[in-house]
Order: sequence, then structure tokens, then C-alpha cells
Amino acid sequence: MAEALKISTEQVTLDLPITDGTIKATDLKAVPTSAGPLATYDPGLMNTASCRSAITYIDGDAGVLEYRGYPIEQLAGNASHLEVAYLLLYGELPTTEQLAAWEKEINTHRFVHENVRGIIQSFRYDAHPMGKLMSGVASMQTFYPSARRIDDPEARRMNIVRLIAKMPTIAAWSYRQSIGRHYVYPNDELGYVDNFLAMLFQSQQRVYRPDPRVSHAMEVLFVLHADHEQNCSTNAVRAVASAGNDVYTSAGAGVGALFGPAHGGANEAVLKMLREIGSADRVGEFIEGVKAGNARLMGFGHRVYKNYDPRAKIIKKACDEVFEVTGVNPLLQIAVELEKVALEDEYFATRRLYPNVDFYSGLIYEALRFPPEMFTVLFAVPRTAGWCAQWLEGVTDPEQKIMRPKQIYTGHRRRAFVPQDARA
Ligand SMILES: CC(C)(COP(=O)(O)OP(=O)(O)OC[C@H]1O[C@@H](n2cnc3c(N)ncnc32)[C@H](O)[C@@H]1OP(=O)(O)O)[C@@H](O)C(=O)NCCC(=O)NCCS
Repeated sequence: MAEALKISTEQVTLDLPITDGTIKATDLKAVPTSAGPLATYDPGLMNTASCRSAITYIDGDAGVLEYRGYPIEQLAGNASHLEVAYLLLYGELPTTEQLAAWEKEINTHRFVHENVRGIIQSFRYDAHPMGKLMSGVASMQTFYPSARRIDDPEARRMNIVRLIAKMPTIAAWSYRQSIGRHYVYPNDELGYVDNFLAMLFQSQQRVYRPDPRVSHAMEVLFVLHADHEQNCSTNAVRAVASAGNDVYTSAGAGVGALFGPAHGGANEAVLKMLREIGSADRVGEFIEGVKAGNARLMGFGHRVYKNYDPRAKIIKKACDEVFEVTGVNPLLQIAVELEKVALEDEYFATRRLYPNVDFYSGLIYEALRFPPEMFTVLFAVPRTAGWCAQWLEGVTDPEQKIMRPKQIYTGHRRRAFVPQDARA
């Protein structure tokens, strides 16, 4: 028997069909109330599905994350970031020939227009790299006006390729501008991740080749960050796209959303917190402060995962790999102690707060000598693959409409205008 939700009020009785565990919110409009047709109130969209998606599956209670049906544990370490980007976009893992063609195409488009260099160069020396990244990404629409033809499949595909290809270049140059170093141009001899590291760190070398352990750990981090279904930045991308916007304009909004400390900025906040705690013996005192409401335990808790974030487990392993090269980050000891104490504490257990992806990633980035402002940039580069896949799915979905939520109005009504000289 088909599932339905029976709603009875004094005026009507309705059977609302339940499909995929949801009712259509617009069906509720058939129920009259004193304030107009019935609607739902859902700040933070905590219990509202805004789209149908076949890209990423999460079971937050079980700690499961899958891209196109492949568990993250199988992808991380086995597939390259570009393989995963292809999977997210096209729904299948690429064959050897498809991957070679995809890598070649991405490699050809890594250079940015020289004027983008001018845009990045024009920022003040202390500008946050996320501001530069956001501007660089949004500016790309002006260099590639074909992106506006979102109904043209080839224009969509080509501009997705460009965005994924150029994102590391804009990100790396945003960093180089901060430190006053020359910009390093993309190198055809290097793959996606190694080329990114080279554009960030190359100094005197003719060809910069990172330690393979570092590049492997970065590849794993990229795969872990590639997509995460309808998170805040993806929702921003989809919302901007729903007005008919191109992939660059939409991804620019995604970069902005990711900048927030409750989203991609959390790993930066974790490092700051670990430094403030200062030593492992002060962890107990800090946890008591969190429980008293003085601070949040950054890198803990998640809107969706009410179990250990599967990405955090994998990152913990990547930490060991990187620390083999760089030496152990002394903050690691504090992080490990924090995790231990929090996981044994009833406050965190009852609220189902576990380490999330940001708890350990900042330690890796710091060990690689990235300044904290770069951490969110290192999240945005791989997440671009997910934003592109979600953008594409959104703009080609016939059920999608311009996103325009309702509000519950709580302000004044129909007040008489008061002339300036008569105001109290
Ligand atoms: C991620 C986050 C924003 C999710 O928030 P949410 O789903 O809206 O959860 P809430 O803010 O409603 O929190 C539920 C309860 O847990 C508590 N809580 C949530 N995260 C907490 C944290 N990191 N430290 C301490 N308490 C926390 C809240 O205070 C609240 O307690 P209460 O019921 O006594 O009021 C939140 O857990 C957080 O701020 N974490 C730290 C930042 C972070 O690591 N973000 C990265 C996410 S990948």
C-alpha cells in the first residue's frame, strides 16, 4: 500500500502521498490555516529535501559516505582526484582511455587569462586568500561568456573543464601574492595535485617535485573533500544556479559559503583552538569550558554525521604519512588527547558529537607549512569537482525552480509614514 500522511483540521482531511520518505511541501497548501495556506518552518533546512540527486550518498547515523555508490574508504588512496572528479560528473569511473583524455583536457586548460593575474595582483598584501579566490572564480565568467549558455551541453562541459583546471592556478597564485613571490605557471609534466603543490611551493627548482608521500596524502585529502551532498556551499551553488547562472558565478557563491567558520573555515579554527589550549594537560580544563558553554570544540559535531565522520578516520591515517616526512606536529598530542577525553564524556556522547573532517586536516596543512588562511582554499580546490557536478545536475533537472523560500513575517504592518521632523 502506498504510504500517505493523513492531515485533519477542522476544515479539511487530506491524504498526502509519501514518496521517497517525503511529502511535497506544496501539497500542504491545500490545508487552510488562520495565517494562510499551511507551510513548513525549517530554519537551516534541517528536514527539507531541496533536490533529487544521484551524486553523493550519506548515512549520518551509520557514518557512511559514498560517491556515485562507491564507499569513500575504497576511493581514497585508490583513485586520483581527477578520477573522482570524472566519477562525480559522469556517474562512472573512467576507463584508462577516458581518464587519459580527461587528464589531458584538464591539463590543457590550467593556464588562466593574464588579466586574472592582474586581478589577484591588485589585492592588498594582507588580503585573505579566500577573498582573492572568490573574486578570481567569479571573474572567469567575464573571460568565458559562453558559460552563460547554460542550456548548451558543450558550453556547460567546456566551462566545467575550465573551472576544475584553473582553480588550482587561482588558488596557488592567491597564496603567492600574499607572500610576495613570483607566480608559478602550470607545468605539463606534473599531475593535478603535484602541479598545484609546485605552483604553491616552487622556488629555485626548474621542476618542483613533492615528496611522493606528501603528494599521496594531498591526493587522499582532495578525494575526501570532493563532494558532500547538500552542504552549505553546495546549497549556495545550487541556489545561485537556480536563477539561471553559469558555473563560475555559482561556484563563486560556493567559495563564499565555504569561507564561513561553521563550514570550511573550521579547520583553521581547530588550529587556533589547539594553540590556545597549549598543552595536553590543559585539555580537561578546556573541555569543562566547552560544557559550560564558553566555547565550542571545533572540529567536533556535524549537521549530518551523528557518528564518527568516515573522512576523519581516513585523515588520521594520512596524518601519519605526512608526519613521516615533516616530523610530528606537537599540536597532534593535544588533538589526540582532546578526542580521547571528548569521546569518553557524556556531554559529547549524548549529543552525538564526534570528530569531523576538519579535526585533523588542519594539522596536516600546518605540517606542510601552509598558513591557516590557506586551509579553506585547500578545501575549495577539490570541492570544485562536487560543485560542478551538483551545478550540472541542478541546471539540467526539469523539476528545479528558482530557489525562493517563504518567510514568517514578524514585523510591523501598514504603518503611517512619519515625516523626518516629526520623528522622536
Ligand atoms: C557543525 C555544527 C555547526 C553542526 O551544528 P548543528 O547540527 O546545528 O548542531 P547544534 O548547533 O544544534 O548543536 C546541537 C547541540 O550540540 C552542541 N554542540 C554542537 N557542536 C558542538 C561543538 N563543536 N562543541 C560543543 N558543543 C557542540 C550544541 O551546543 C547543542 O547543544 P544543546 O542541545 O545543549 O544546545 C556544530 O556541530 C559546530 O559548530 N561544530 C564546530 C564547528 C565545526 O567543526 N564545523 C565543521 C563542520 S564539517
